Amino acid sequence: MARHISISGMAGVVLRRLRLFPYRVSLRPAKSLLWLWLSRDMRHSKGKATGIDAGCGPMGNRPLFRTDHYVGIDTDAVRLRAGHTRYPETTTVLSAIEDATHIHGDFVVCVQVINTTAGFDTANECLAIRSLVEMCNLGGCLVVNLGSRGSSLKELESFVDDIVYKQFMQVEKRRYGAFSTQMPRMASWLLAYLMLVVPPLRTAFGQKHRNTYYLCRNKIGG
Ligand SMILES: C[S@@+](CC[C@H](N)C(=O)[O-])C[C@H]1O[C@@H](n2cnc3c(N)ncnc32)[C@H](O)[C@@H]1O
Repeated sequence: MARHISISGMAGVVLRRLRLFPYRVSLRPAKSLLWLWLSRDMRHSKGKATGIDAGCGPMGNRPLFRTDHYVGIDTDAVRLRAGHTRYPETTTVLSAIEDATHIHGDFVVCVQVINTTAGFDTANECLAIRSLVEMCNLGGCLVVNLGSRGSSLKELESFVDDIVYKQFMQVEKRRYGAFSTQMPRMASWLLAYLMLVVPPLRTAFGQKHRNTYYLCRNKIGG
């Protein structure tokens, strides 16, 4: 469960400056860490033309996109409509990611979808990953996270590695997954910050690797 929270005054200004503003906080610290990373990495979308939010749901990440246009793709018409009602300037595409290779953008985000939700089998997940890379224009960025809900995270990771290290100039890969049980919001938030600055904590020193986050920049093709 994630919530939008508001922090006003000096604290809000400082956190925004440091790109540490918690625009979404989950009761699960691992997920709060994901939102922190995403809000920091979305600065790279500034100046880019089209942002694609693949598996956008009700567009909870829409405010982070600094692209000129935003396209939300999802298989769930109700969620898409809810997002469009909140953000009428957006373009919506009712489609599976695997079938949306005709859509192209300069900043492609796909979080909390691949191997984190029911309904994908491994073959489809691999197709979805290929599709995300295809959607991304040359020079563009891709942000994607993987979970360990059904398929083997290790296998998915090596599939992604094979593609992204060839197709993007810079790839940052971050493993995480520790502290994924629910706890009070404040504790979740503080632990997420702690994991941000102390990388070994993200996997409990290698014991709890349940997710992988990729920031891939500057697509070169290949
Ligand atoms: C847990 S929600 C995440 C929503 C959003 N990305 C976020 O970060 O808040 C997962 C979303 O992925 C969508 N989804 C699942 N499989 C999909 C697929 N194959 N193609 C497109 N969307 C998909 C679901 O309908 C759901 O809205």
